[in-house]
Amino acid sequence: MKVTIFGTGYVGLVTGACLAEMGNHVLCVDVDEAKVARLKNGEIPIFEPGLEPMVLRNHEEGQLDFTTDPAPAIRHGEVIFIAVGTPPDEDGSADLQYVLAVARTIGRQLERYAVIVNKSTVPVGTADRVRAAVAEELAMRGVQVPFDVVSNPEFLKEGDAVEDCLRPDRIVLGSDSEKAVAVMRKLYAPFNRNHDRTVLMDVRSAELTKYAANAMLATKISFMNEIANIAERVGADVELVRQGIGSDPRIGYHFIYPGAGYGGSCFPKDVQALERTARAHGYEARLLGAVEQVNRTQKGKLFELIHRHFDGQLAGKTVALWGLAFKPNTDDMREASSRRLMEMLWDAGARVRAFDPEAADETRRIYGDRDDLVLCEHPYEALEGADALAIVTEWKAFRSPDFERIKAALGTPVIFDGRNLYTPAAVEEAGLAYYGIGRGRSL
Ligand code: UGA
Repeated sequence: MKVTIFGTGYVGLVTGACLAEMGNHVLCVDVDEAKVARLKNGEIPIFEPGLEPMVLRNHEEGQLDFTTDPAPAIRHGEVIFIAVGTPPDEDGSADLQYVLAVARTIGRQLERYAVIVNKSTVPVGTADRVRAAVAEELAMRGVQVPFDVVSNPEFLKEGDAVEDCLRPDRIVLGSDSEKAVAVMRKLYAPFNRNHDRTVLMDVRSAELTKYAANAMLATKISFMNEIANIAERVGADVELVRQGIGSDPRIGYHFIYPGAGYGGSCFPKDVQALERTARAHGYEARLLGAVEQVNRTQKGKLFELIHRHFDGQLAGKTVALWGLAFKPNTDDMREASSRRLMEMLWDAGARVRAFDPEAADETRRIYGDRDDLVLCEHPYEALEGADALAIVTEWKAFRSPDFERIKAALGTPVIFDGRNLYTPAAVEEAGLAYYGIGRGRSL
């Protein structure tokens, strides 16, 4: 089929590559000329496992192309995805200007029936606004071109996005048009070969499904962080509690890892946006507010532990950080817990030496060159001259380190384990002080 995708960000590019991989002809449009030039040149702007070879191969084979010109793109697609950004505006609600601008562009140029698909995470009611914007532009042209708007939210995890896209748990389709559903079913048929994963519903339910999924996951994390904070005070170990509750299949083991708070471009933004949507409809979503608050506090947790350990004397100290990205297998630093930690350390007069397998460039881009930040090429290089080690992101490379080597390198041998990667006894046996998240002995 012929598919057009507006937006070559992480969602648009992954979706485009996967649809091309399934044999469709995909044309991706982006207003960013430099980015389109790079993509045409085979340079992939984000780090996402498996994405680069897929983009390169499909581009070479003519299944996937990029343009800045919306006109041929709108002529091309029988299905037109809108996958542009929806950043939070000042009050935390999703800013729809880019989505609606694309809708208008489509309305100005559409010549024949197309299914317009909202892939971006958008508040409930956005499909109606997209429909109205397209219709208004068509009316201004004085033409009648049929079209449908479908909500088809994505559930891609960064770092696993290609896999999630090729083998989805579910394909949520929100539509009130049989014709559009038939087109979408045809497009997704190759993803449904073994069993049908389509969950068909009305547009508003599909829009809310996306937010509900992310809010539920964020709630699980904040809940566990709250339990960790209680565990720490009552002298229990949250890691044992986690296994104790995860064994109940109604609770499950997934997404109940306590830590230094959740980050990324989705959870913080989506929890806030859903809260704002609820408020705009006269409902105070107290649970969501609490999820957000717990997370905000949790992002300061590592600093709190470090500050307490050094009796508030952080000026002139150097802290080594392992992990900067908001989670492993990405170079994404958006809302990363490492940022809060670094900023609090700097404010307290400490220096940071950091290692991350992928996010060093992004960190440099955000913070520029500064005396109190050294980005290292190797985990152990970050320890040179440092007083303490803090683990912020659970990259596999940090899972079984050489504790003797860490001890020898650190001025005051102490580890602040923000992802509970280590067994406290094993670290302590090696002669290092250990602080985890919610592990009774941390206090
Ligand atoms: C999230 C969802 O998992 C995807 O399903 C969704 O499609 C995506 O948002 C989106 O809306 O686009 P992502 O932001 O890539 O995906 O990251 P996650 O893997 O969900 O991790 C989010 C944060 O939660 C990370 O900072 C991670 O360290 C933290 N986390 C995760 C925990 O602290 N504990 C856990 O048990 C799990």
